Amino acid sequence: MWRASVLTIFPDVFPGPLGASLAGKALTAGAWSLDVVDIRTFATDRHRTVDDTPAGGGPGMVMKPDVLGRALDAVAAEARPRLLLSPRGTPLTQARIEALTTQPGVVLVCGRFEGVDERVIAARGLEEVSLGDYVLSGGEIAAMALLDACVRLLPGVMGRAASGEEESFSQGLLEYPHYTRPQVWEGRPIPEVLLSGDHGKIAAWRHAEAERLTRERRPDLWARHVKPLPNRER
Ligand SMILES: C[S@@+](CC[C@H](N)C(=O)[O-])C[C@H]1O[C@@H](n2cnc3c(N)ncnc32)[C@H](O)[C@@H]1O
Repeated sequence: MWRASVLTIFPDVFPGPLGASLAGKALTAGAWSLDVVDIRTFATDRHRTVDDTPAGGGPGMVMKPDVLGRALDAVAAEARPRLLLSPRGTPLTQARIEALTTQPGVVLVCGRFEGVDERVIAARGLEEVSLGDYVLSGGEIAAMALLDACVRLLPGVMGRAASGEEESFSQGLLEYPHYTRPQVWEGRPIPEVLLSGDHGKIAAWRHAEAERLTRERRPDLWARHVKPLPNRER
């Protein structure tokens, strides 16, 4: 079973959306497990303090290394990678998500306030990963996004394995456009080729559309698709 442990000061927000739909069913069915650790229970003072003022001054608060260190030490990581959700981290990609699903699971640390004391990141070997170039108020939503993306790829979770293989990013391209009935909606018809029943033509049209969309919307992905990076630079 793929095991996720999440360290947070807001344990009640989990499983949240991960308890619904595919991820929720997979959780109930035992395809993955979720263990939520309340960092606050590792504080030793009466007020259960998890943060303190930044050394050197400045706004906000910083998560204390001693409390977070104890919380991390209480979670048996075994062979699981320990990741800190952080806007400073390496942006997550579908390739990284796929790689994480081949591990026994993940240990995720959700930051809050201005962030986490640098020493605990170094001492516990936390790898920083980011959801994108914008700042969230905390790591919880980012952790949920990472887990959702992983869980849907676990064996048996998605209805048809093919729906994962053809998705955006899995072949280095964005996905082609989708249509469903009615055949004409507000004067807009479904492209004729999709109604032709010719699977070869349909596949070729979809591939061409995926290429067009990627070229137009994501020149960065397109450049990599046309000229893939060597493995070590991905
Ligand atoms: C308000 S943010 C801290 C931002 C930090 N002071 C900075 O400027 O980089 C609080 C926490 O939210 C989480 N977070 C914010 N943006 C994120 C992102 N883009 N990806 C992943 N986690 C993020 C991190 O855990 C972070 O420690």
